[in-house]
Amino acid sequence: MTINILFAAQPDSWAQYKEPLSAALQQTGLSYALRCDFAPSDVDYIVYAPNSAIQDFAPFTRLKAVMNLWAGVEGVVRNKSLTVPLTRMVDEDGLTQGMVEWVTGHVLRHHLGMDRHIVNPDHNWDHSPPPLSRDRPVSILGFGALGQACAAALLALGFPVTGWSRSAKAMDGVTTCGGADGLRQALSGAQIVVLLLPATAATENTLNAETLALLPRGAVIVNPGRGPLIDDDALLAALDTGQIAHATLDVFRIEPLPEHHRFWSHPGVTVTPHIASETRPDSASRVIAENIRRHVAGEGLLHLVDRSAGY
Ligand SMILES: NC(=O)c1ccc[n+]([C@@H]2O[C@H](COP(=O)([O-])OP(=O)(O)OC[C@H]3O[C@@H](n4cnc5c(N)ncnc54)[C@H](OP(=O)(O)O)[C@@H]3O)[C@@H](O)[C@H]2O)c1
Repeated sequence: MTINILFAAQPDSWAQYKEPLSAALQQTGLSYALRCDFAPSDVDYIVYAPNSAIQDFAPFTRLKAVMNLWAGVEGVVRNKSLTVPLTRMVDEDGLTQGMVEWVTGHVLRHHLGMDRHIVNPDHNWDHSPPPLSRDRPVSILGFGALGQACAAALLALGFPVTGWSRSAKAMDGVTTCGGADGLRQALSGAQIVVLLLPATAATENTLNAETLALLPRGAVIVNPGRGPLIDDDALLAALDTGQIAHATLDVFRIEPLPEHHRFWSHPGVTVTPHIASETRPDSASRVIAENIRRHVAGEGLLHLVDRSAGY
């Protein structure tokens, strides 16, 4: 029987995904039709981006699963009309690799104090060396697919790494922790904090006035996770007092970041336009095709979202 797969994302994504997704589905040996215009009642699977025009899943009466193209699912997980399994994007060869590169780059920027040399209009001959990585503890809040991959890369560079998650985790060479005590532990020793948590009710304002105060003075925040993880006003206040030396922010409560937002003008903030890591069509298509194959074969879906936890 032919499986009907609907591609539902922004219209310009179809051109990027049509070929790689078709090629990856062909590799599975499934008999399929892939289009972006099926009648809802004919659709078996949806390859989905939360900014798609489809927001009501009720007409998709024979739908079996939805494959989210993004790692973050906050834009779909609370949709009451979606009652079938939802998977999120985990793609080591694309999305994860991109995040590892972005996080490592921004951690190294702050660790090495690169700005002193890149922006040096007075030609200041400041010969002071940075500490070695072994003296620069980094804590990663959110120790999942992306957090763990970033931890492995930072560990390989010599940084002492702490990972904070909801459930217990273990990784050789990394200090792992959870809960409120674990958060205190992760923050109190960290000179650089990387946020790789999902946006859920439980993670909102993880960094607030109280938790920012736990960090040693002059700590740096790197947030490629989601905007609501940080209380913006508390961060700006901590930047103004020097409690936080710098924040590199890729994600915001409102995107694009509104023109009047103080993050744009604050000298202690670097704004990047939600580019920490993108889903890459070639490798992501292979992940999606394999997951559809698994589901058709009666094997468990990979990267299943826990709807009650919200990620
Ligand atoms: N800026 C970008 O370009 C970009 C790109 C991709 C992803 N992202 C963001 O990165 C996030 C993480 O992606 P991922 O694939 O690594 O997700 P993931 O594998 O689901 O990992 C999420 C981690 O956060 C932890 N967590 C969740 N709620 C928590 C809580 N209340 N307290 C403590 N820890 C908690 C989880 O704990 P458990 O391990 O116990 O479940 C897990 O370790 C995504 O949700 C997305 O928002 C951003």
